[in-house]
Amino acid sequence: MELKIFALLLNLWLFGNLNLQYGSAFNLDDTNFLRKNGEAGSLFGYSLAMHHQLKPKDQQLLLIGAPHAKALPGQKANRTGGLYRCKFTTESDDCERIPIDTEDSRPGQGLDHRENQWMGVHVKSQGPGEKVVVCAHRYQQWIHSNQLVLGRCFILEQNLIVEDTRTFCRNRPSSKDQFGYCQQGVSAAFTKDKNYIVFSGPGAYDWKGTIRVEPIDNFLLDSYETGDQNEFSEGNIPLTLSSYLGFALDSGTNLLQKDEQVILAGAPRSNLSGEVLILKPKAEEDQRSLIVTHILHGPGLASSFGYSLSVMDLNADGWDDLVVGAPQYSSTDMEAGIGGAVYVYINRRDGRDWDRLQPDILTGNKDSMFGLAVAKAGDINHDGYDDFAVGAPYDSDGYGAVYIYLGKTGHFLQKDYQVLQGETHNIKLFGYSLAGNMDIDGNGYPDLAVGSLSDSVLVYRAKPVISIEKSLKLTPSEIDFEKIDCQKGHCLITAESCFSYTTYPTTYNPKLQILYKLTADEQWVQEGHQSRLVFRNDEGNIVLEKQGEKHCIPRRLRVRANTENKLTEIPVSVSVSLPQHSPPQMLSRSSLPALQPVLNDLQTQKITAKLMFLNPDCGGDNICQSNLQLQYSFCSKDQHLDSCSPLAREDGVAVIFPGSENTALKITVTNPGGDDAHLAQLVANFPESLPLSSVIHKPDSNVNVQCDVDESKTRAECNLGNPFKRNAEVTFYLLLNSDRLTASITDVNVTLNLQTISVQNISEIIAEAQVFFELYLQVFGLAKPSQVYYQEIKKNKSDELIGEPVQYDFTISNMGRPLKSFASATLNIQWPKENNEGKWLLYLMKITGPNNQSIPCSPASEISPLDHAQEVMSRGKRQAENEAKASAFSADGLLSLFGSKRHYKYLEYSSLNYLDIVLNVSLSLNETQKNIRLRESQTQLGCLGCGMCTEEKKYHPY
Ligand SMILES: *[C@@H]1O[C@H](CO)[C@@H](O)[C@H](O)[C@H]1NC(C)=O
Ligand SMILES: *[C@@H]1O[C@H](CO)[C@@H](O)[C@H](O)[C@H]1NC(C)=O
Ligand SMILES: *[C@@H]1O[C@H](CO)[C@@H](O)[C@H](O)[C@H]1NC(C)=O
Ligand SMILES: *[C@@H]1O[C@H](CO)[C@@H](O)[C@H](O)[C@H]1NC(C)=O
Repeated sequence: MELKIFALLLNLWLFGNLNLQYGSAFNLDDTNFLRKNGEAGSLFGYSLAMHHQLKPKDQQLLLIGAPHAKALPGQKANRTGGLYRCKFTTESDDCERIPIDTEDSRPGQGLDHRENQWMGVHVKSQGPGEKVVVCAHRYQQWIHSNQLVLGRCFILEQNLIVEDTRTFCRNRPSSKDQFGYCQQGVSAAFTKDKNYIVFSGPGAYDWKGTIRVEPIDNFLLDSYETGDQNEFSEGNIPLTLSSYLGFALDSGTNLLQKDEQVILAGAPRSNLSGEVLILKPKAEEDQRSLIVTHILHGPGLASSFGYSLSVMDLNADGWDDLVVGAPQYSSTDMEAGIGGAVYVYINRRDGRDWDRLQPDILTGNKDSMFGLAVAKAGDINHDGYDDFAVGAPYDSDGYGAVYIYLGKTGHFLQKDYQVLQGETHNIKLFGYSLAGNMDIDGNGYPDLAVGSLSDSVLVYRAKPVISIEKSLKLTPSEIDFEKIDCQKGHCLITAESCFSYTTYPTTYNPKLQILYKLTADEQWVQEGHQSRLVFRNDEGNIVLEKQGEKHCIPRRLRVRANTENKLTEIPVSVSVSLPQHSPPQMLSRSSLPALQPVLNDLQTQKITAKLMFLNPDCGGDNICQSNLQLQYSFCSKDQHLDSCSPLAREDGVAVIFPGSENTALKITVTNPGGDDAHLAQLVANFPESLPLSSVIHKPDSNVNVQCDVDESKTRAECNLGNPFKRNAEVTFYLLLNSDRLTASITDVNVTLNLQTISVQNISEIIAEAQVFFELYLQVFGLAKPSQVYYQEIKKNKSDELIGEPVQYDFTISNMGRPLKSFASATLNIQWPKENNEGKWLLYLMKITGPNNQSIPCSPASEISPLDHAQEVMSRGKRQAENEAKASAFSADGLLSLFGSKRHYKYLEYSSLNYLDIVLNVSLSLNETQKNIRLRESQTQLGCLGCGMCTEEKKYHPY
């Protein structure tokens, strides 16, 4: 046998490590639940109560109301509803009907009508060894033709034998606006002093409702009622008709003053939104009334505030707090998806100012009816504060859910809950009723029962909660990385972690295995670096024999020799968890399956200690406050000399002329008067159109800059030094590749980010430059022949024969680098066309490109104008624009312009014997491309002459 156990433990040790299970302080076990089923359609589970019976036998029971249950034989009805008692067993169908309301109606009191009376609509237990009340709010009494819906309640002994029947509206004025439709029993409560029971008749006074407090069995005590128990003065109840006062009831003793009995009553239809009344009994002369001391107003129209409520001390300060459900609450913002709310009133002012207490508001999912039921759940996790449960039976598409909130001293926040889902167990409308605050398996933790409208009830048990005390100590906790021989990797640190555990109850002392895991430098590693601490065995487990026993584990950590970050502290953490299987808590009082413990999730399972670096160079405060400064300029880097001449600037912004191989960004970083800048870096981001080409260091620099450049060459991370010392200075050049710049790019930005892990706020710098394309085009011209003779002509000769043809050849060459076909330029040619008498001088015959290709020119009508018969030529010079696009720039171009010299008898120049005919030729750019320009601003590229000799001189150059 012992062997077996040993083997089992060994297994746990082996597998435990793989399954780190982080426990939850929300410790209701959703696996080992108990389920009780009732007859279909009986509404078994509409109401619930935990009951602890002491005599004749000590046993705990779950009382379950089933208001649609079939009648018992002898009840003279078909369907009366009933109450069941269930033992806390794993059986699902061992609930028994309690015989209630089986006697014949007593004579003289009218005719009891039990059909459809809803017995079990409400059930409550007074406490261990105390009484139980169960009600049927639709019980009717028929007197003559009147069918009075009085409702009534039964008081049961602790052993669940009926002791008494209470029908307080019987024998009272029976009109609708008095007590004929009292509907007693929708709710009921016992006062905390155990002397009284509280009933309500929400249907009294035309559904204004009334509350009555009457002694349970000590009839020397008085009864009290809203509006006075004898006078029935409805006017004293400060509510409107149809308020449904008493729909929910509870009592408190430490709400307004210590040890003062007060009644809390919900009136969910009061003043349209719902209200909760705080009532106090008052005896004055003959009057015995419940007077209203405070009214809590509901949150919004038709929210049904007060549909449910529960008094409990949530922050363990000895004062009663209040939880109120408003299941039909919806936000004015329909999009918010809110349906139902719970208002948590913490009694922060020791009983005062209830009218002004600001509740914490918890809300449920849209249409979930969150808050339809609220219940005190007791201290489920044993942290010293009572917890509460909220039912939302229409949550999760009608399956329903129950939310558990933990009591505490602070505010209640929306997110703090464990949720139990009906869908998990295929139960619909789950969470319609709740009962808790009783430990059913004797493990010291209260358990919770959840009812539904689908004839099933689940009981969740609370698992024991383990709190682990942890400590972690580093020795030494400070190192001077420069001083000690850390560079060689000899810096050793001892991390000692100690563990012990506590739990409730103190008698619970399991031999607990605890898994721990040591981590170091997590943040730094997450950022993509290597951990600065090296160690082995980062996880393991220890066994703690009993509560309070402390166990310590030392671990050796080594500081990595090539540690880069010698500035920021290194966090070392140890976290704990329980293995997937911990020994379950043995139950002495119960035969239910034992539950495994969980870790207390309210405490953090991880603690951290920090290893500090000493930085003597950063002053006495050990805080390194650097003062990194950056200067930059765009320049043209001389390839051989260590110089870089600044680029020309326009409007203060540097201008880049693409094509230059030497465009560079000169960077100078300094740290004037600053503390060491640890891990100083420059991160430069380049546009895709202007990527980095290379990094050039200043040869005389004593700081070694190393840059990591990414594949696309658009990002460089340059390490400037670790540390970059006080008053250090470094200059280097980022050579840029301007080949990818296109005409559509007019400006480029390089972003420069200086970074350090020392203390300094550094803003990003944007190095901005403009882009201009400069075309370096030239036109050469040649006239063939270069001289012609002027001759008298004969009439009626054809054009061609009129004069001697002259051919002008233009060669446009790109003297700069070859450029892509993005620029569009125009060659403008002016020539003397006619003299001032309108006689032809040079007649343009045709324009051809290289290899006789035709060239589009405008105006086309100027070419051989006599062929364009309709064109009438007039005075002055005409110009033809020769659009010579791509060809002009991709290679040398050759254009020929054929002119024909005309001969005129009375040429003005005849007195001269020699005349230069001059053509003006110029290049111009398409103006839509703003960042392209020609190198010379004057585009008058020159004149082209052709000498003309008069006949008289017969001038021959050859
Ligand atoms: C019980 O049901 C039967 C059949 O529906 C009906 O005739 C009878 O009146 C019912 N009894 C009572 C008390 O309502
Ligand atoms: C109804 O509620 C409004 C707003 O809270 C309040 O001003 C008014 O006095 C209330 N009326 C009654 C009758 O309580
Ligand atoms: C460059 O930066 C300047 C100023 O920050 C901004 O106005 C401009 O749009 C930027 N240009 C590009 C191409 O991002
Ligand atoms: C200038 O260039 C644009 C776009 O390339 C073109 O649409 C336009 O016709 C050109 N203008 C001239 C005068 O060549």
